[in-house]
Amino acid sequence: MKARAVVLLGAPGAGKGTQARELSRRLSIPQISTGDILRDAVRRQTLLGLQAKAKMEAGELVPDEVVCGIVEERISQPDNEKGFILDGFPRTLAQAEFLARVLRARGQGEPQVLNLGVDRDILLKRLTGRRICTTCGEIYNIYLNPPRQDEVCDKDGTKLLRRADDNEESIRHRLAAYENETQPLIDYYRRQNLLREVDGSRPPEAVSRDVVSSLRRA
Ligand code: AP5
Repeated sequence: MKARAVVLLGAPGAGKGTQARELSRRLSIPQISTGDILRDAVRRQTLLGLQAKAKMEAGELVPDEVVCGIVEERISQPDNEKGFILDGFPRTLAQAEFLARVLRARGQGEPQVLNLGVDRDILLKRLTGRRICTTCGEIYNIYLNPPRQDEVCDKDGTKLLRRADDNEESIRHRLAAYENETQPLIDYYRRQNLLREVDGSRPPEAVSRDVVSSLRRA
């Protein structure tokens, strides 16, 4: 059986990370989040982190060659034999074309692409209310999906953090970068008949059911 490559497209706050985590559990294949990899590099102050920090905090995209290098290296690891879920990649046409070349070279064929559609007012609430656990990666929302105890992870008791780019100014830039650079990928994949639309505005469990059934149909 060919390894499957799932791509989750969607605006900042659309729920890519939330759905990728759940799908990874269900399919037993890894989630590859370029945002998480970059944030980890920033935290550890590696060369990559130092290169990416300012761009990320400003809500701008990190250069294609940097992100493509990260993904190529991550995909080549042995835990991806059965497949992987890309969360936050590709985000530009150059990245999408790069991914197509890498998948072809691995004999993996076309990706299964799901677009999580969510209205802008909902996105803003999701982004300003998001809190994350840096120990286990669990994602919360103080308005929509709060932890049992204020600002503390239910699973391991770690104090929850607000992401450095979840402030009004960065969110505005991230949404603009999405509209200018990433939205064109919807047409790119639609033209190739690879795109499935999922209504991402419903509760996470309902979105998750649609994600799974869309992948089965694809
Ligand atoms: P990245 O980490 O990918 O950020 P993003 O695309 O802005 O997306 P988010 O992580 O903000 O949102 P999400 O869709 O994952 O939503 P989540 O599930 O967390 O990238 C960060 C930065 O890194 C970029 O700005 C860029 O600088 C750089 N970067 C990364 N990849 C790059 C690339 N390929 N090229 C260049 N640069 C790159 O959910 C959000 C909130 O909503 C949470 O609070 C959650 O609990 C809640 N929520 C989720 N789903 C639901 C639901 N169904 N109902 C109610 N609440 C929900």
